[in-house]
Amino acid sequence: MTHFLDIHKTPKDDLRRILDQALAMKNARTGRPKGAADDDRPLAGRMVALIFEKPSTRTRISFDMGIRQLGGQSMILSGTEMHLGHGETIADTARVMSRYVDAIMVRTFSESSLLELAHHSDVPVINGLTNRTHPCQIMADVMTFEEHRGPIKGKKVVWAGDGNNVCASFLHAAGQFGFDFVYTGPAQLDPEQVFIDGARAEGVNVRIERVAARAVEGADLVVADTWVSMHENRTACHNRHNLLKPYQVNARLMSRAKKGALFMHCLPAHRGEEATSEVMDGPHSVILDEAENRLHVQKAILRWCLGI
Ligand code: CP
Ligand code: NVA
Repeated sequence: MTHFLDIHKTPKDDLRRILDQALAMKNARTGRPKGAADDDRPLAGRMVALIFEKPSTRTRISFDMGIRQLGGQSMILSGTEMHLGHGETIADTARVMSRYVDAIMVRTFSESSLLELAHHSDVPVINGLTNRTHPCQIMADVMTFEEHRGPIKGKKVVWAGDGNNVCASFLHAAGQFGFDFVYTGPAQLDPEQVFIDGARAEGVNVRIERVAARAVEGADLVVADTWVSMHENRTACHNRHNLLKPYQVNARLMSRAKKGALFMHCLPAHRGEEATSEVMDGPHSVILDEAENRLHVQKAILRWCLGI
């Protein structure tokens, strides 16, 4: 069974093929209405279940649109309305769903729920974000970087802020695509050591730099994300805002990066916290391209999973 669970679990050649196919499909749609089907409809007659235990705008809409463009159908399911880990085991849910649908995308809390679902599923399972990783997002981000600046291999990527789930998938991608990675943020919010060690084991130059201005020097890409993720309690994390203030991506910080550096944010953003509107809407920013590329790259991920 070909699941898309994390970037470091997917062979390097396959990741590259997914990106190539995503770009080809994107180019083939130039000038078409967004609701129009692709010429090629490999998902015809297939159903994909999209399960959300957390809110989503981009993941929900881009998967749904992508499936329609590929000629398939989707059903969007809310975790709270299902017996997902409550009322029955995740294993039973996985076995039952495998009798109905051709693939499952799930956004969930604990990584173990994703892994258990995949382990017991007879159809491909795609990770649409857990508390620990967000691989579809970073595939879109690598695609976006390469569209603007060419191969990401050997480039310098700086993550500013909370060393969270999106940061973890960037570390996975650094190992697979071969770029340098600098984390800048307070020690309390460092990425998990296992993600850093994993990237280093792949030969990645991973650096931790507590001074944001020093970290971004020579950066090809600066990335920010929300300071408090969906699985965390905003009130309980209030103190984080003081810790993270020095790591806000603003125009002054961006001016220390390389001249043509890009700025990314997976969205949703708290403008004025992790990044200013001046940066988010400024010349370095490619945030809307990232969001668009979710659509194209996830279509390629679905095709890879289903072998179509
Ligand atoms: N970036 C991202 O995954 O956005 P959503 O939470 O809106 O899906
Ligand atoms: N780190 C964020 C990403 C949202 C797409 C979260 O988990 O809420």
